[in-house]
Amino acid sequence: MLQVNDLEVRYGAIRAVRGVDISVAKGELVALLGANGAGKSSTLMCIAGAVKPAAGSVHLETVAIGGSSPERIVRSGLATVPENRDVFPDLTVAENLRLGAYIHRRDIQGNKQNLERLLDLFPRLAERAHQAAGTLSGGEQQMLVIARALMARPSVLLLDEPSLGLAPAIVERIYEMIATLKTTGLTMLLVEQSMSTALSVADRAYVMRLGKIEFTGTAAEIRSHTNLGAMYLGG
Ligand SMILES: Nc1ncnc2c1ncn2[C@@H]1O[C@H](COP(=O)(O)OP(=O)(O)OP(=O)(O)O)[C@@H](O)[C@H]1O
Ligand SMILES: [Mg+2]
Repeated sequence: MLQVNDLEVRYGAIRAVRGVDISVAKGELVALLGANGAGKSSTLMCIAGAVKPAAGSVHLETVAIGGSSPERIVRSGLATVPENRDVFPDLTVAENLRLGAYIHRRDIQGNKQNLERLLDLFPRLAERAHQAAGTLSGGEQQMLVIARALMARPSVLLLDEPSLGLAPAIVERIYEMIATLKTTGLTMLLVEQSMSTALSVADRAYVMRLGKIEFTGTAAEIRSHTNLGAMYLGG
């Protein structure tokens, strides 16, 4: 479904990502793990089109999307939830969600159905549909940005550290949401610093260090590799 080959990301003289190969099969949930500065967000933002690759290729099914504009990539079926959890604070939850359907803006009926489906799937958002997004808790805002990305009706969803800065009980809720999405057959690539959290839902994982993939395996293999946490994730 998603195939990344020999990807390189540069910021001027800094090579933040080099030689990265990642593949995600249809319906799979794959984690990209690593410590601060390992290059996880750079990899994700490059796949999403926000940063141009210095080298390498990205394919979504058979379509080459490497170096395409972010809007074109979303239209190809890949949506991204970045790290920053940006909502439109003065707009309601429902209005924020509708903005996520920008690329389908002429399909009013389809958007209405998709909005209803998402509100059914995530009742906490339904309860707050008419509340201003700026008044939501951090965890609820995280749920909102995930649901908003799904309004683009992606076949692949990229998530950048959805647990960042949230209390453990809230992280659990976000991960329940991700697990629910997995049962719908959505293909996901999930960036996390927290290895145990990500491995609780992931099928497979890649571990990044200093811009490179250092290790890859099934969630069970990574869990049983006792040194990985200490070596690459700082504990
Ligand atoms: N816009 C930028 N300009 C210059 N250097 C950057 C930029 N963005 C990231 N970097 C550098 O690239 C490297 C990888 O950063 P990146 O944000 O991809 O790491 P990360 O694995 O997502 O880390 P974190 O877990 O802290 O989010 C770091 O050394 C960082 O300083
Ligand atoms: Mg990051």
